[in-house]
Amino acid sequence: MNHAVKLIGGLMLVFVLSGIVESQAQEKTTSIRTDNQRTNELCLNCHAHNYFNYNNTVENKLVKHKMEPGMRIDTILFYQSNHKTFKCTDCHSEDFKTWPHAAEVRMEPQMNCIDCHGGDEKYAKYQFEKIEEEYALSTHAIRHAGDFTCWTCHEPHSYKISARNDSIIKKIIAYDNNICLSCHNNINKFELISDNEKPNIIAKHDWLPNQARHFQNVRCIECHAHVQDSLLVAHNIQPKEKAVKLCQECHSKNSILMNSLYQYQLKSKATGLGFDNEVMLDSSYVIGANRNIYLNKISLAIFLLVLAGIAIHSVLRIVSKK
Ligand code: HEC
Ligand code: HEC
Ligand code: HEC
Ligand code: HEC
Ligand code: HEC
Ligand code: HEC
Ligand code: HEC
Repeated sequence: MNHAVKLIGGLMLVFVLSGIVESQAQEKTTSIRTDNQRTNELCLNCHAHNYFNYNNTVENKLVKHKMEPGMRIDTILFYQSNHKTFKCTDCHSEDFKTWPHAAEVRMEPQMNCIDCHGGDEKYAKYQFEKIEEEYALSTHAIRHAGDFTCWTCHEPHSYKISARNDSIIKKIIAYDNNICLSCHNNINKFELISDNEKPNIIAKHDWLPNQARHFQNVRCIECHAHVQDSLLVAHNIQPKEKAVKLCQECHSKNSILMNSLYQYQLKSKATGLGFDNEVMLDSSYVIGANRNIYLNKISLAIFLLVLAGIAIHSVLRIVSKK
């Protein structure tokens, strides 16, 4: 038999086998989740849609009713979030199972992050206690105590970690900035918290050249939060007078970005395989960084494929000789 045909056959076998292993792994995780997902369907039948149906017991007929946008939950985002394995009623009262929802259950206080994550070894690396301390010093907490909570930024039905997981810095920046802009660019959300007029964010950053480019390359917190070396994400948002305005703070050799935006990438570079050259420590400018993680990944994949090819080829040769 032709060697090339054997090689292709062998490679196909590897792909099929790895496909089977992967789909088994997926089945396992889905089966863990389906119990809670099934329970959630009761709530999501109403809360995931623009309309919901209920039985009008007085007139004894089925009524179609509008679901307010603010009450809608995006099912896809929910099942991608940090708390995707949860039942709705892990955080909300069981009493929500009946509708109309009783008035008292709406008054129930919400659990805070720290109620579940505080003092838990498993989450020590996130430093919830330290974050809470820093947040308490922030302008949001001081000016709007009571209305502003951790949930105000960490949308309970969609929040997922990004800075720690994503290797593409632009994705992290977009994700984190959207948390701030979803309110600072949205009068309806802003009004829920402040009676003051909402400042126009674009106009207020007029002084920054090439503003759109900056907002794609740095996070709001880079200029607005007090950096705490031990934390991956600074949580102490300062009043506007304290914001970074000096170009050299970033455009210099000891750019503040090394301790914030690039912090995690720098650390994982030290401990990781060393393939990525994401962060240019030696170059004196932030501008012009040449991070090409795709090329690294593609070349690694090609390398592994070649190795697999050689291995299969030798095995087939040995077998066919016998
Ligand atoms: C028959 C449709 C329906 C079902 C089923 C339903 N809800 Fe609701 N829910 C609504 C509507 C409509 C609102 C907004 C109007 C209101 O408060 O009654 C609402 C409001 C809420 C609110 C906001 C209450 C407030 O005022 O702050 C929460 C929280 C909530 N639902 C949770 C749940 C949970 C959890 C479940 C499942 C255990 C659930 N709902 C099942 C229709 C439903
Ligand atoms: C990790 C905890 C958690 C889980 C899980 C959770 N919620 Fe919530 N939910 C909250 C919190 C906290 C609030 C109040 C948010 C606020 O005050 O800003 C809330 C608010 C709501 C509201 C009021 C509208 C809003 O967004 O403020 C609805 C409706 C709701 N939840 C429905 C659900 C449904 C349906 C599920 C299941 C699919 C669910 N929740 C799962 C924590 C949770
Ligand atoms: C009702 C308890 C509860 C509350 C309240 C809660 N969490 Fe969680 N959280 C959990 C549990 C349990 C997990 C693990 C879920 C899993 O692995 O399926 C988790 C997972 C996480 C993760 C992912 C951890 C990892 O390493 O994968 C983060 C990040 C997180 N939560 C942040 C928060 C933040 C921020 C808040 C508040 C805004 C919060 N949580 C509120 C119980 C809670
Ligand atoms: C002003 C908005 C805001 C508030 C308020 C806020 N956070 Fe955050 N938080 C963020 C942003 C932005 C991130 C970065 C998300 C990412 O990229 O993973 C983050 C990340 C986190 C992380 C993950 C950090 C890591 O090391 O990966 C935790 C844990 C967390 N916040 C907890 C809290 C707790 C607890 C509170 C309340 C005491 C809180 N946050 C309040 C904006 C906020
Ligand atoms: C849910 C709405 C909301 C979110 C989310 C939010 N903010 Fe704010 N922010 C406010 C409100 C309200 C004020 C106070 C304005 C006032 O008191 O009039 C404020 C104040 C500020 C100030 C101080 C402005 C001044 O006048 O000194 C800064 C800076 C700021 N926010 C930045 C951020 C950043 C950065 C994020 C994201 C990490 C963020 N905000 C997330 C609503 C929000
Ligand atoms: C390059 C640094 C930098 C970045 C990035 C940046 N800001 Fe600012 N921001 C400033 C400075 C400096 C001021 C104060 C401007 C002044 O007083 O003229 C300011 C002002 C503000 C104010 C106060 C507006 C007012 O006058 O009441 C808010 C709110 C704000 N920024 C939010 C944000 C948000 C949200 C983002 C992310 C989309 C962001 N900023 C990104 C530096 C920055
Ligand atoms: C918070 C950090 C930070 C601050 C403060 C900052 N920059 Fe930038 N700047 C960046 C980053 C990051 C980029 C994008 C670099 C890249 O594209 O690789 C950038 C890009 C630029 C560019 C575009 C370069 C190009 O190739 O098109 C110019 C021009 C620029 N900055 C000028 C300034 C000036 C002038 C100031 C002060 C008024 C300033 N920056 C303040 C971080 C900052």
